[in-house]
Formats: sequence, structure tokens, C-alpha cells
Amino acid sequence: MNDNPRARAWLRLAAVYFAVGVIFGVLMGATGDHSLLPLHAHINLLGWVSMALFGLVSAAYPSISVGRLANAQFWMHNVGVPMMLGALMLKLRGVEAAEPVLGVASMVVGLGVLLFAWLVFTRIGAESRSVQPPGGRVAA
Ligand code: HEM
Ligand code: HEM
Repeated sequence: MNDNPRARAWLRLAAVYFAVGVIFGVLMGATGDHSLLPLHAHINLLGWVSMALFGLVSAAYPSISVGRLANAQFWMHNVGVPMMLGALMLKLRGVEAAEPVLGVASMVVGLGVLLFAWLVFTRIGAESRSVQPPGGRVAA
């Protein structure tokens, strides 16, 4: 692994979402009020799990985390996810006006994930072909 600043940013963000997601989980368990279940699930899955994986993939394959497309993917996820979770919380609390924001934010997150898939397909193989000798990766 390496000290890729983008990997570090993803992992720190992931840890924050993990802490918040688990606090919601404990609160749901303690109060018996499971009405915020989708919020808890998506804080943990789009926040902690997805961001930790983005961080680990960025550490293993730094080429996936540089350039304009990688920046766009970073910001789409980091603007889309909190917007989506905020709107989801309002909707679960009965604020119907949050619905269109939830829709737009979901699309931003979805497009960011498609961009990540594109980066995986276009960058990961290309990295090993262009900078590494035959036979595998060079240890950093
Ligand atoms: C201290 C840690 C946690 C506690 C106390 C906790 C508690 C809960 C509770 C009370 C529910 C509602 C169950 C129900 O109404 O059926 C729930 C659902 C859920 N939790 Fe957690 N949780 C914790 C951590 C996590 C983590 C780390 C993840 C993901 C990485 C996670 C993912 C989910 C998911 C996906 C659901 C929805 C499951 C379904 O659709 O039935 N939870 N959790
Ligand atoms: C743009 C991204 C996403 C959108 C718009 C979305 C939307 C939804 C919706 C509408 C539901 C049904 C909720 C309900 O019945 O109340 C759901 C459930 C669920 N989703 Fe997602 N999802 C997204 C991303 C993800 C990701 C990345 C994961 C896992 C890594 C995930 C895991 C789950 C799980 C486990 C459930 C069942 C628990 C629950 O009801 O909240 N979702 N999602």
C-alpha cells in the first residue's frame, strides 16, 4: 500500500460515516424505533462500506484516484451522498418536499458510481500495462 492522499481522504470520510451509522444503529436498537432503518443502512453502505472500498482501491491502484474524472467521481459521491441522506432523513420524517432533492441526489450518486466503474475498467489494467514489467506489480 502507499500514502495516497485521496485514499487517506476516502478512509477518513469512511470512518466518520461509520461512526455516525453505528450511532444510528445503537439508537435504533436502544429506542426500538426502527423508522430510520433505511437511513442507518445507507449511511453505513454508501458512507462507510463504499468509501472504505474507494479508499482501499485508491491505495492499491493510485492511477484510479488522479485526474479530472477521478476528482469528478470523488465530488459526485461526496456531494451526492450527504444530500441524499439529508433528504432521506427529512422524507422519513414526513417532509414530502424532500422527495425531488432525494431523486436528484440519488442520480448524482448513481452517476458517480457509473464513473467509478468506468475508472476501474479504463485505469486498472492500463496502469499495470504501462508502468510495470511483465510478471506483475513492482513493490512500492
Ligand atoms: C453497533 C453497530 C450496529 C447496530 C447496533 C445496528 C443496529 C441495527 C438495527 C436495530 C437495525 C434494524 C433492524 C430491523 O428493523 O429489522 C439495523 C438494520 C440494518 N443495519 Fe445495522 N447496526 C449496526 C451496524 C451496522 C453496520 C456496520 C452496517 C453495514 C456495514 C449495518 C447495516 C444494516 C443494514 C443494511 C440494515 C437493514 C437490514 C434490513 O434491510 O433488514 N449495520 N441495524
Ligand atoms: C444511489 C444509490 C442508492 C439508492 C438510490 C438506493 C435506494 C434504495 C431504496 C429506494 C431502497 C428501498 C428502501 C425501502 O424499502 O424503504 C433501498 C434499500 C436498500 N439498499 Fe439501497 N440505494 C442505493 C445504494 C445502495 C448501496 C450502494 C447499497 C449497498 C452497498 C445499498 C443497500 C441497500 C439495502 C441493504 C437495502 C435494504 C435496507 C433498507 O430498506 O434500507 N443501497 N435502497
